[in-house]
Parts: sequence; C-alpha cells; structure tokens
Amino acid sequence: MEILFGTFIPYLALLVFLVGIVYRIIKWARTPVPYRIPTTAGQQKTLPWIKSDYLDNPHNTWGVIGRMALEVLFFRSLFRNLKTELRVAPKSPEKGRIVYWSSKWLWLGAIVFHYSFLTILTRHLKFFTEPVPFFVTMLESVDGFLEIYVPAVYMSGLALLLALGYLLLRRIVDSKIRYISLASDYFPLLLILGIGITGVLMRYFLKVDIIAVKELAMGLVTLHPTIPEGIGSIFYIHLFLVSTLLVYFPFSKLMHMAGVFFSMTRNMANNNRAVRHVNPWEYPVKVFSYIEQEDMFRKQMKKAGMPLERDIEE
Ligand code: HEM
Repeated sequence: MEILFGTFIPYLALLVFLVGIVYRIIKWARTPVPYRIPTTAGQQKTLPWIKSDYLDNPHNTWGVIGRMALEVLFFRSLFRNLKTELRVAPKSPEKGRIVYWSSKWLWLGAIVFHYSFLTILTRHLKFFTEPVPFFVTMLESVDGFLEIYVPAVYMSGLALLLALGYLLLRRIVDSKIRYISLASDYFPLLLILGIGITGVLMRYFLKVDIIAVKELAMGLVTLHPTIPEGIGSIFYIHLFLVSTLLVYFPFSKLMHMAGVFFSMTRNMANNNRAVRHVNPWEYPVKVFSYIEQEDMFRKQMKKAGMPLERDIEE
C-alpha cells in the first residue's frame, strides 16, 4: 500500500499532469486567431491628439505585457468587478432602479487564496531540494514569524483555509451563485480544502516524521523512489489528495492558469487602425468587376427583369 500511495500514484499523477497540460497548451497554441479581437475597454490609439488608453487598450507589445502582468499578478479585471442590484429607496414612489457598486470580496478571497497557495508550494520545495534554496528558508521564516506556537504557525496555511472557506461559503450561501455553481466549481475547492486540512493536521496535531518525508520526496525527484519506515498514514492521505489534484488539473477549469496567457482578447495589441492585418490563410481569389459579371449573365439578368448597366443592344 505504501509503494502504491508513495510511489506509483504520485508518478502516474505527475505524468498525467504534464502530458495533459502540454496537450492542452499545444491544442490552444494551434488554434487559428486570424484577426485581432482585443477587449476594448478604452480608446484605441488613433490620431495623435486623441487621448488613448495604454493599459486598457494597448497598441503595442509592451502595453500588452503591462495589461497581462496586472491581470496575472493582481487580478485586475476581478478587482473592477461590479455588483448589480435593484434598489428601492424607502418611501419612494419609484419601482426601484439598477445600481452598480463596488464588490471587492471575491477579489480579496481570490488573491489571498492564490498567493497563499503559491507561498505554500514554494515552502514545500524544502522537501524536494538538497541543499534547500535560500529563498525557501527565507520565506519560511517570514511566513512563520509570529512564533505563537511550536512548531511555528505558518500564516499562509491559515490564510489558505480561510480564503477557501470564504470561496466555498460564497457559493453555498448566495442563492444566485448557488444556482450557477456546478460540481466542477465545488470539487476543486473541496479537494484543495482537503489538502490544506490534512497538511495542517500533519504539521500541528498528528505529527509525522519529517526526515522520513524528505527521504521519500528526494527519492521521488531523483527517480530512486524509497519508502522509509514509519511515516504516518495522514501523510499518504495528503499525498493522495495532491495526486488527485494533479490528475484533475489538465481536464478542469484550473487550466485557467495556462489559459489566461492564451486569452486572445487580452494577449493582442490593438493596432487595428495603425496596421492592416491580412488573414494569413487568404489564398488568391479570381475577382470579377461588376461589369464583367454583367457581361457573363446579361441575358439571364434581362430575362429576370434586373436593371442593367449596359443593355443587350449596346
Ligand atoms: C498542491 C500541493 C500542496 C498543498 C496545497 C499543500 C498544503 C499544505 C499545507 C497547507 C500544509 C500545512 C502546513 C503549511 O502551511 O505548510 C502542508 C503541510 C505538509 N505537506 Fe503539503 N501541500 C501540498 C503538497 C505536498 C506534497 C507533494 C508533499 C510531499 C512531500 C507534502 C507534504 C507535506 C508535509 C510533510 C507537511 C507537514 C509539514 C510540517 O510538518 O512542517 N505536501 N501542506
């Protein structure tokens, strides 16, 4: 069982993860995008005296890189998310009117979740590297600086659970969001919650032999898998849930991690006014002028009562 859960399943999961991701990326990369279809939230660059919006409507690659970086690092479009509500003022004869107002909780939940996940993954590199890179040790001491418990409590672990809890409750509590939520929305949240909870249990409550875990992890990365004695079963549960996540990843909405870079409404400069874009697959087509066409079909057109440029007698 330990060989199955400690070696076979993790390797298989990693294989499915890598092959799946490469397959989907190649498929996306080969999809033709013959025309520029950027989202145009601001004024496109045009005549010099008309003010254009460089970030919302970038006209060159640097602008695209800037817009992309803000999206990927700060979730800018989610930050600008608005809430729409029908409001009726008290004692107002009006039936109510639509108001739009700021809604930042989803953005906050998402950003806390993603950054704590990234921090935890980076910290976990200590299991898979020897010597451990300096930034991993540094991150560990910053993350655990509170020192309110032994072992030091990592803030990222708690932040991850809190953010996941919020993201899950949001789908369950709000009837509108519950209505549009599918199994594919709940499953990754619950799965990552399971990974986080087993991790926290393992670190603070059900202690496992960390030296043995490192031995197992190093065995996996150096392709000399070993199963050291006496790692608690909670570790194998943690690892199995991580393996499940790896297998699920390429076939799920989690692929937005790669997909955001392929989003053609975001990754294209909007220079439609400055540059003429010709469809690269356009093949030479024999064209007719109108009069040549009329020459070919004059009789038929006359018979059908259609107006002619030149009549048959001419
Ligand atoms: C998606 C990937 C993973 C996530 C999100 C994750 C999450 C967590 C979390 C939240 C903790 C609690 C303590 C902390 O904040 O660091 C933890 C602990 C732990 N994880 Fe993971 N984990 C992942 C992958 C792995 C893998 C692949 C291993 C295999 C070596 C592993 C082994 C451990 C161990 C041994 C602990 C206990 C650490 C200690 O006692 O210091 N985790 N994990």
